[in-house]
Amino acid sequence: MRFDPWNPDFVAHPYRVYEELRRDAPVSYFEPTGQWLISRHADVNALLRDRRLGRSYLHVATDEEFGREPEPEFQEPFWRVIRAGMLDVEPPVHTRLRRLVSRAFTPRMVESLRPRVRAIAGGLVDAYVERGGGDLIADVAEPLPVTVIAEMLGIPEPDRPLLRPWSADICGMYELNPAPEAQHTAVRAASEFAGYLKSLARDRRANPGDDLVSALAQIDELTEDELVGTCVLLLNAGHEATVNVTGNGWWSLFRNPAELARLREDRSLLPTAVEELMRWDTPLQMFERWVLEDIEVHGVRIPRGTEVALLFGSANRDETVFDDPDRLDVGRADNPHISFGAGIHFCLGAPLARIELIESFGALLDRAAKLELRREPEWKPGYVIRGLHSLELNATG
Ligand code: HEM
Repeated sequence: MRFDPWNPDFVAHPYRVYEELRRDAPVSYFEPTGQWLISRHADVNALLRDRRLGRSYLHVATDEEFGREPEPEFQEPFWRVIRAGMLDVEPPVHTRLRRLVSRAFTPRMVESLRPRVRAIAGGLVDAYVERGGGDLIADVAEPLPVTVIAEMLGIPEPDRPLLRPWSADICGMYELNPAPEAQHTAVRAASEFAGYLKSLARDRRANPGDDLVSALAQIDELTEDELVGTCVLLLNAGHEATVNVTGNGWWSLFRNPAELARLREDRSLLPTAVEELMRWDTPLQMFERWVLEDIEVHGVRIPRGTEVALLFGSANRDETVFDDPDRLDVGRADNPHISFGAGIHFCLGAPLARIELIESFGALLDRAAKLELRREPEWKPGYVIRGLHSLELNATG
């Protein structure tokens, strides 16, 4: 098999291919997308921190100067939202936006949310076990992070069912070469979401509450687009990957029953287990960077104007960094995985994601004495965002 993000067999089992890439072709050109694939941990880590690359090039050049086609006109409402968030801008705009938002995400602030996260996780898991199980993704993995981030932002409860579909539709654009239908759906979702947030922010500016949208709405430095872009990013980044780490993580434990038993025996392993589950089956398999100045990697010249695809899933199995990398080890102590990224865009929500994951894995282990797979789960077709359609379990208390 070769690297083929549109082939369901590759999506289900990418790790052998990654091993070959790391060994034989750590920098390889992928014709269908015109990107350079980077597969070794040291290179992925270094390029994420290298200021000669960027998530965007628009701070240094126009599309024309950079030799790129502009985005099709119909996508304008989508990019307007996405490019106003911190993840798609570079310094100095990035520095300013990240500074404004990071106050809400300091480890201390986030730690103060732990009791609430624990209560939400406990409530969801109680109901799940009472029903004898079901789809863990729909019943526990999704509602936990969506509720947490919606509460932080102050999204009224009746509106929360809108968030998950908007976010999922927006994510459709992040796959490699998305189909035209997925592009239109993403544009529509971004426009509706932006309209909703603008009216919420207007309301909160007039009647502030104790929530993040109110806090952001009071900041004069923040334009309306930046406020919308920030909230969409937080809602989106704030749950998509967490849902998938929960689903992928449990599926990993079922495939490694000795490690599941070890974790059941010793709950103090939860923090290392969560890191290991994120490493072993990486929820975001790839991130891209534009090359802003010519670079050279392992003797290969990568010219300005091209894109590199950093293979996080491969970096996380690099044998030069991780002992016995294909083994799932819930007690792995030395685990410099790259699932939260590195450099200036390092995941702002990492402390919150860790709390959510530890609390939800812990709640299910505490409340369900027995967990069994009802059937083998299936991967969703997307390669970049790695997740299961559903995870059907029997759970008994
Ligand atoms: C950025 C992963 C959960 C908010 C990132 C990046 C990664 C990542 C890889 C950097 C992307 C890049 O460099 O191109 C994850 C994973 C999560 C998770 C694996 C769950 C297990 C969260 C949560 C939040 C969040 C819960 C917020 C509530 C953000 C934000 C950024 C970001 C705001 C942009 C930071 C910046 O551009 O400076 N995340 N994330 N993430 N994440 Fe997360």
